[in-house]
Amino acid sequence: MAKTNIAVFASGAGSNAQKIIEHFAGHTGIRVALVVSNKANAGVLSIASKNNIPSLIIEKDVFFKGNAYVDELKSASINFIVLAGFLWKIPQRLLEAYPNKIINIHPALLPKYGGKGMYGHHVHEAVLSNKEKESGITIHYVNDKFDEGEHIFQAKCEVKEDDTAESLAKRIHELEHANYAKIIESTLSVLGSRQRRTGSYD
Ligand code: GAR
Repeated sequence: MAKTNIAVFASGAGSNAQKIIEHFAGHTGIRVALVVSNKANAGVLSIASKNNIPSLIIEKDVFFKGNAYVDELKSASINFIVLAGFLWKIPQRLLEAYPNKIINIHPALLPKYGGKGMYGHHVHEAVLSNKEKESGITIHYVNDKFDEGEHIFQAKCEVKEDDTAESLAKRIHELEHANYAKIIESTLSVLGSRQRRTGSYD
């Protein structure tokens, strides 16, 4: 049977992308087929090239005002999109081309600490300044509103009194690395069995 081809969208260092690539290397049913980034110098691009995975650098105008790279993604046979530290909003055109097939990871317990501008250290600083006792991660479907799609998975961790944004980010990254690839795999297996039952991925 044909493999499910994932595109990983990332703007930053790409530590989650790295874990996802490692998890699916040699997998019989799922392949990371493309890494997509909006930054030509993103760390994730060298991770892609070290792993012989093609990459695509995208431009704002094409993404938001053009075809949103739907043609390129379809011609690379991409079936599923995983956001891993990708900070641009996903345009309607791409959402329509991949209905319920785009997921994101957010470094907090949504619905708290989500929305535009809430990414990376901004999230952790807000959590610390509100003196939260716990934080965590949320993996969710992507819809047309920042961080508001249906939740797939959450995991919690402690926020310590002496935490800094960096120490909290480290704990959150560990949770992300331990969970994201596994949740991608289980989400795809649910979609796959639905596809086998109904003949459709949608
Ligand atoms: C991750 O912590 C991810 O949850 C966060 O960016 C980081 C990327 O790290 N995403 C967001 O804040 C989205 N709003 P990485 O490049 O090392 O994977």
